[in-house]
Amino acid sequence: MNVLPDSAPGFDQPIAVLKHCHDRIRKQLATMEKLLPHLAAHGADEQAQQAAAAVIKYFDKAAHLHHEDEEQDLIPMLQATAQGDDAALLAQLAPGILDEHRQMDAMWQGLHEQLRAIADGSAALLRENDVRRFVDTYGAHMEREEGHIAPMAKRIFSAAQMAQLGQAMQLRRGIAVPVSTGDAVAGLRKDYGQATLDEDAVADDPFEQFNTWFEQALKAEVNEPNAMSVATVDERERPTSRIVLIKQYDARGFTWYTNYESQKGRQLAANPHAALLFFWPELERQVRIEGRVERTASEESDKYFHSRPLKSRLAAIASEQSLPILNRAALEDNYAAIARQFGEEPPRPLNWGGFRLVPERIEFWQGRRSRFHDRIVYMLQADGSWTRQRLQP
Ligand SMILES: Cc1cc2nc3c(=O)[nH]c(=O)nc-3n(C[C@H](O)[C@H](O)[C@H](O)COP(=O)(O)O)c2cc1C
Repeated sequence: MNVLPDSAPGFDQPIAVLKHCHDRIRKQLATMEKLLPHLAAHGADEQAQQAAAAVIKYFDKAAHLHHEDEEQDLIPMLQATAQGDDAALLAQLAPGILDEHRQMDAMWQGLHEQLRAIADGSAALLRENDVRRFVDTYGAHMEREEGHIAPMAKRIFSAAQMAQLGQAMQLRRGIAVPVSTGDAVAGLRKDYGQATLDEDAVADDPFEQFNTWFEQALKAEVNEPNAMSVATVDERERPTSRIVLIKQYDARGFTWYTNYESQKGRQLAANPHAALLFFWPELERQVRIEGRVERTASEESDKYFHSRPLKSRLAAIASEQSLPILNRAALEDNYAAIARQFGEEPPRPLNWGGFRLVPERIEFWQGRRSRFHDRIVYMLQADGSWTRQRLQP
């Protein structure tokens, strides 16, 4: 899997590459199933040894990379892009997919030992139940991904996002990625370099306008499009700010996840007014969002917490965010203790969850020549409607 054979699709079609990986997994699963009667009839003969070695080689390395593609790139990119029904389906499927990866890793450990002994010729035992469970779990898992996840990615990812996913998968396999991102993206940047913001052309609804700009930021592959500054004030009304990652936005507001007892958490408990700031330099754009912050419902925080990779969940529990600690070693010790205590299924700690900023003011800023920029600000009215006006640069 490190170097793809000629017949494999290229990384410019990352979803096809993922499907190709599934087909190869299916082939290895079939080999394992065929080994069962073969071992019964012939023991660990040379053919069985070779088959066992090939299966080990595949699942030790390639299957692992494939899971990382999904966990670190495909699913987070879908989470950042999916809206409405897609977002709901993803929230429903993603935790199960990540959970099954862990289950299949654990099942593989057991099979690995048996296959290693077969490959060495030192034993001929392959437990049928172990093989069946592994084959069934993988089969159902891949079908779910092919039935829902892959079609969604094909439907909602832009060409630039597909390129981004393919490049990440390529880098994971140590294959060099050319620096140029291709004509399509270069063309996009050029277009937006000439962009203007017109009060008659923007959407009536600022959330719709934000969605348009966010999607354009994704398409243009701006660096960390979902990173935003969150400004809060302390008890003496002095401002402080930090970067967090937006995890959701919809008509209710803009959501990120953090520790409720962190500095920002304590400040927001005392004074819920905050300001968010996105800066997308490649598009010469910023968005300023101000309003009141509320906590997300605990079910929402649970859902997101359980969709995170295990290590991130353990880290969230282990860190008393914003409090001092003696040194890095003490931090690592705390993590190890939490990992021992909770194992594979850590519960969401009550001091960790989402904050949602419910906006009252949203300003879109588009850089123009000679510092003569465009600024359109939306203000929430008492009846829940939004007005907008142009501000001077
Ligand atoms: C790119 C980037 C993304 C970050 N994302 C988060 C995040 O989603 N949640 C979070 O709590 N901290 C995040 N951080 C760390 C915060 O900036 C900050 O250090 C931390 O939340 C503690 O802030 P506080 O002491 O003001 O509460 C991120 C930092 C960077 C640079």
